[in-house]
Amino acid sequence: MGSALVPLTLLVLLLTLAASQPNKDDWDIRHFHINSTVTSRYATTIITSRVTNSMDESKEIEFHVQIPKNAFISRFRMFIDGQVYDGVVKTKEQAQQQYTQAVSRGQSAGIVSSVGRTMEEFKTSVTVAAHKKVTFELTYEELLKRTLGKYELQIHARPMQPVADFKVDVYIYEKAGISYIDVKGGLSTKALANAITKTHADKQAWVHFYPTVDHQKTCDSCGEQGMNGDLVIVYDVKRDDGLGDIKTSEGYFVHHFAPSNLTRIPKNIVFLIDQSGSMHGKKIEQTRTALLHILNDLAEDDFFGLITFDSSISQWKRELVQATSENLEGAKVFARNIPASGGTNINDAVLEGAHMLNAHPREGSASILILLTDGDPTSGETNPEIIQSNARRAIAEKFPLYCLGFGFDVKFEFLEKMSLENNGVARRIYEDSDADLQLQGFYEEVATPLLTDVTMIYLGGTNLTKTNFSQYYNGSEIVVAGQITDNNIETFIPEVVAISSNRKVTFSNTNTSVEPSTETVAEGLLQRVWAYLKVKQLLEKEVLLSGPEKEKVKKETLELSLKYSFVTPLTSMVVTKPQEDKTEVLHKPQEGKIQHGLELMHGGGAFPVSVNNAGPIAGRPGIFHDARNSHHPGQHGFLGFFPPLRSQDQRPLAPYPDYDQFDDYMDLLLARAPTPTSRVKHRFLLKENNNSPPLCFDITGSVILKLLHHPSRKLYVNGELKSETNAGFTKIVIHTGDDQHVEIQPEAVTVRGGQSTTRHTGQEAITAGSVTIFKRDKEVDVTAGDVRLVILVHEKNGNKFLWPVLRQKPSASNAEGILVLKPTNYREVHQGSLIIKGNQIIATRSAADDYSVSPPVALTCWLISFENALQKPLQELLSEQI
Ligand SMILES: *[C@@H]1O[C@H](CO)[C@@H](O)[C@H](O)[C@H]1NC(C)=O
Ligand SMILES: *[C@@H]1O[C@H](CO)[C@@H](O)[C@H](O)[C@H]1NC(C)=O
Ligand SMILES: *[C@@H]1O[C@H](CO)[C@@H](O)[C@H](O)[C@H]1NC(C)=O
Ligand SMILES: *[C@@H]1O[C@H](CO)[C@@H](O)[C@H](O)[C@H]1NC(C)=O
Ligand SMILES: *[C@@H]1O[C@H](CO)[C@@H](O)[C@H](O)[C@H]1NC(C)=O
Ligand SMILES: *[C@@H]1O[C@H](CO)[C@@H](O)[C@H](O)[C@H]1NC(C)=O
Repeated sequence: MGSALVPLTLLVLLLTLAASQPNKDDWDIRHFHINSTVTSRYATTIITSRVTNSMDESKEIEFHVQIPKNAFISRFRMFIDGQVYDGVVKTKEQAQQQYTQAVSRGQSAGIVSSVGRTMEEFKTSVTVAAHKKVTFELTYEELLKRTLGKYELQIHARPMQPVADFKVDVYIYEKAGISYIDVKGGLSTKALANAITKTHADKQAWVHFYPTVDHQKTCDSCGEQGMNGDLVIVYDVKRDDGLGDIKTSEGYFVHHFAPSNLTRIPKNIVFLIDQSGSMHGKKIEQTRTALLHILNDLAEDDFFGLITFDSSISQWKRELVQATSENLEGAKVFARNIPASGGTNINDAVLEGAHMLNAHPREGSASILILLTDGDPTSGETNPEIIQSNARRAIAEKFPLYCLGFGFDVKFEFLEKMSLENNGVARRIYEDSDADLQLQGFYEEVATPLLTDVTMIYLGGTNLTKTNFSQYYNGSEIVVAGQITDNNIETFIPEVVAISSNRKVTFSNTNTSVEPSTETVAEGLLQRVWAYLKVKQLLEKEVLLSGPEKEKVKKETLELSLKYSFVTPLTSMVVTKPQEDKTEVLHKPQEGKIQHGLELMHGGGAFPVSVNNAGPIAGRPGIFHDARNSHHPGQHGFLGFFPPLRSQDQRPLAPYPDYDQFDDYMDLLLARAPTPTSRVKHRFLLKENNNSPPLCFDITGSVILKLLHHPSRKLYVNGELKSETNAGFTKIVIHTGDDQHVEIQPEAVTVRGGQSTTRHTGQEAITAGSVTIFKRDKEVDVTAGDVRLVILVHEKNGNKFLWPVLRQKPSASNAEGILVLKPTNYREVHQGSLIIKGNQIIATRSAADDYSVSPPVALTCWLISFENALQKPLQELLSEQI
């Protein structure tokens, strides 16, 4: 019996091994970093992935990420074997020419994307020789848009395998102050909470996500392939009641306008609901559900109308009616019984809706027309151009028309054009279980009009982006950018004129001129914000034009896209690449053509070539289209790989990081501040309680602190404070369970184990028993089991010192040390008097530098004693030996 069991067990074991190790050793992601910097709502994100081909033969290595739809790619580079292959943005014609040449030589590979709800895929690959490495670096930029009272920065993390050196770093700077910041998204789960740290200091905020390899395998939506999910950083800025936030720099300005104290304007709203046969089933059910919610949400002084249409139209009431409870009940009965059958007569519906609103002029109100449809016009007037011109005439700029396209059978370009022509926007409603919530969500965005006829005026400003807005809604924001004539801030006078209910309101600076921004703005940043907005708006404008006017706008858009190297529907990025014959093509499909895109993505040899729908070229060689603006058939940008270009084709480069140097390779609730007093004190900040200001305390003299003692991992981290240096830790030592000792100093990392001692001063990855260390220029990243620790290297008055920050807290409850202490909560009773754990304590208002971020920020804090701050004697946190 026993002997029969053995082979069986072995077989199972072998099968398991084979199944869980799919080509694992082909390539190895050495690091995967996502770094996002947001200034004034403008986000620049850099994704860097360094991969080694660990095979004895050359191998195709893939880079596959997702970026927000709204973003423009502005740079893509590959670093291979000491060479940089840098993308150059070109006109489509130029790129096409090179592309054609490449095709005729049978070269090149591809990049591409498919379109999801909010993200697009970006994928490329390159052949790398045996045991060589490649670093991919992708940069994209986007202006975050305020909706429902918040900005959202979406970061997709999917490196394709667990990565030891995986990190997401987000830094936000908002001059007006950040009112709150939250981390959401699929990765913000309880299991991963220990790996997310968030620091918020008035105008600045940091979010770090440093999951360990274990976490990357075991979290929800993670697996052998590592992490796969989103991190969404949600925040808002503080608002004033006036003109808002104006930033100026280098002759450019950006104005964010979203006054906070306005009262809502009653609205007149008409819903045009498609009840054609194709809406039958789930779609009409979801529409009914959404409509019932929306009706519940109307205020008593709102007026509303409901029109359903198929081949003909039917109204619930012939006229607008007030949203009294009695009328709402009647409307709900109507909404619950909307059938679905027949054709789609969009023309008559829009005309009737416009007629209803026009027949009911009301002083001091805001009118809105919302069309929901899932198909093309099939009955009544079916010519899109005639419908558009009818709609334009009937609406005559008196109110916005919003078009919601339900599913992918709609001619979205038509809806988009029609809404843009009438001061509205078109939105896609995805056919999914949450379609009713999407409908409600859209309604909420326009549910509370605050101003109408908003005119943004900039005396002394020029080259402005759009300045007239028909309505301004609660939770949104108006953004205008431009140049300041002669960069003369003295004569630059911004002003906003609008209608609130039935009175004209003017917002202006109490001061005659705008104060110049004193804050540091990254060079050229406002200019890029301006260019981004300008390009987005020109692309919309182009849709509405034809003939020479269209060409003129196109030319302007193209020039800007080239100048700022944005990959837009009019431009392409061309990337040089080492010669290779392997061909792979991925084509970035248009919104609504998901199937198509996927089919191409999985294609192995012969790829379908789609010329008309998909843009100019979707053949074998590599192309990257920006197909976001689906109204540009045949106008998509692309990014392809071609043989090396002549050097004059390269745009001037900023010095690039030498990734080859990097060979192989939580908020600490404490932060420290030096106090320049005679007796040397080391000041610590106790953050992370929700109190403001935070508590701080001093430690005097030379001591060795227990930073982290993790008995279950046999991991001990101690830090040395010296009384003669007025700075942070001079040395941090990590003792691992496997008898390795890692001594970290600002200049070097020294590993002692058994008889051997090695000293590392360069940027490199170091292994010491079960601990992995990435030594970088200004930080040392330490990974030990479920703990990730970052040791920042700061410099003050010429002295370098260390500051430890816990980025992934240990899950074990028996961990001790100053890094894992629970924050103390306090209650302020009156100025300087705090209650902590029932005791009244006198505190001094003081200042501290927060060294848990780089560069440090100054904070005010309540200074109290160590014992009061930590609720234990200092002795418990001291160690005899380093
Ligand atoms: C992120 O990128 C910015 C801009 O390139 C850089 O200044 C910053 O140091 C980077 N942050 C990290 C954590 O790498
Ligand atoms: C909003 O506040 C500003 C200044 O505090 C004031 O001038 C303005 O009248 C207020 N607006 C409304 C609608 O209350
Ligand atoms: C606007 O929205 C905020 C919250 O999103 C809310 O507190 C405020 O009352 C709203 N203003 C009006 C006028 O409805
Ligand atoms: C407006 O921008 C264009 C393009 O950047 C520039 O050529 C022109 O000089 C600018 N106009 C003014 C008045 O600054
Ligand atoms: C913006 O509105 C103002 C006043 O309503 C008008 O004079 C101006 O012509 C409009 N500008 C544009 C570009 O439509
Ligand atoms: C007006 O200008 C003065 C001096 O330039 C400045 O101190 C003050 O804060 C400004 N006030 C406003 C409301 O911008």
